[in-house]
Amino acid sequence: MIPGSRAPGLVQLLNYGRDPLGFLSAQQRRFGDIFAIRFPYFGRIVYVAEPSLVKALFTGDPAVFHAGEANASVLEPALGPNSVLTLDDGPHLRQRKLLLPPFHGERIERYGELIREVTRREMESWPVGEPFALRPHTQRITLAVIMRAVFGVHDERRLARFEGLIDEFARRVGLVASIPPLRRNLGGLSPWGRFLRSRQALDAFIYEEIALRRAEAETEARDDVLSLLLGARDEQGEAMNDRELRDEMVTVLGAGHETTATGLAWAVERLAHNPAVLAKLRDSLAAGEEDYLAATVRETLRARPVIVDVGRKLTAPATIGGHELRAGTFVLAAIAALHYREDSFPEPEAFRPERFLEAKPDNYAWIPFGGGIRRCIGAAFAEYEMRTILREFVERADLRPADPMPEKVRIRNITLVPAKGARVVLGRPLVYPAAGSASAVA
Ligand code: HEM
Repeated sequence: MIPGSRAPGLVQLLNYGRDPLGFLSAQQRRFGDIFAIRFPYFGRIVYVAEPSLVKALFTGDPAVFHAGEANASVLEPALGPNSVLTLDDGPHLRQRKLLLPPFHGERIERYGELIREVTRREMESWPVGEPFALRPHTQRITLAVIMRAVFGVHDERRLARFEGLIDEFARRVGLVASIPPLRRNLGGLSPWGRFLRSRQALDAFIYEEIALRRAEAETEARDDVLSLLLGARDEQGEAMNDRELRDEMVTVLGAGHETTATGLAWAVERLAHNPAVLAKLRDSLAAGEEDYLAATVRETLRARPVIVDVGRKLTAPATIGGHELRAGTFVLAAIAALHYREDSFPEPEAFRPERFLEAKPDNYAWIPFGGGIRRCIGAAFAEYEMRTILREFVERADLRPADPMPEKVRIRNITLVPAKGARVVLGRPLVYPAAGSASAVA
């Protein structure tokens, strides 16, 4: 019997929802490296919170450890049946192979100038001397980047229309994704009815873009992800059809923009509350170094993992950590608990990017992007984007915390967000370093 709290499911869900970071770590300290949590509707879920158990989960036979099925229970209404996130086995591998090349490390660096431009434009709207929440701004930046770099939309009127449709869709999807019993059509004003309408409107726009990009593919050399996917072929020489393209584009949109925006908001929140780290980062950038910036991004994703757990559903009985688990069991890696283990990350409460310069963490101890054949396809893109944007912030802005206490964590659409949106104050107007110089705010 896997140990776990006997509290009613609703109580456990509320505790999880209030502070998933603290809750998962507390379960690990109380019950050990493998424990169970009971949730209403989803039932008993098994969590592993130790690197060798996580390795067993991520490298187990993918035909037995189904990630797609586990994800589909929450994500399918939004992403559809052809998404790399909701598929398993052969179909998953096919989509994954088609999707990987555009997100390859070297390819994504082509978007650097676009990311900097969008960031600078958004920073112009920051007030000086008044507290403001940073997260809506980072979200506008990452959304603008995805709309342009991934979808290849550049026309201002279409961008505005697209943003409105995404906004409406994002507002409607949260409720029906997290509360499956709501997925019933009880008329136009019901949550499901509104969700279906917003999905239809967004899909119509995406199909228009696919058609536009197909027509342009003949005449123009484009380097957005959608254009690259139109040209991609699987081992049989087949291209993706429009339904597959729609599902993958919505997957990238859903998986890629809020997550990265939230990671960035946390990076600034952590830096603002750790002025010595911020000063060191600024100095290292002024000296032309990149390593401390990369380490700061990784330490942020350790201390505030945007996704707190990631799961597989067993299609057959399996043994993990000496426990025999039945087919149908959900097994999740407790990312939040794993990142706070003393033996992997000494003084886990401290925000210390140096730890990533001193030693490379075990592959299964630091897992903000999951792992195995399901590891996040956008990991390199997300880290590159976070580094590029954070660098602009730190070099140009004198960012201070708006409140003396660090922000609490909250769950929003399955991501871990700063409760007040990472409130900061700009101490003085933005600085514009001379072209080519990496000079920082003094
Ligand atoms: C800080 C930002 C991000 C975080 C924390 C994050 C985290 C994750 C996690 C935890 C998974 C599940 C992995 C598993 O099951 O083992 C995942 C999967 C995925 N992510 Fe990300 N992600 C981020 C950004 C992105 C971006 C920018 C994109 C696309 C451009 C993206 C696309 C995907 C896709 C397509 C998958 C599904 C992979 C598969 O099932 O084969 N993510 N991500």
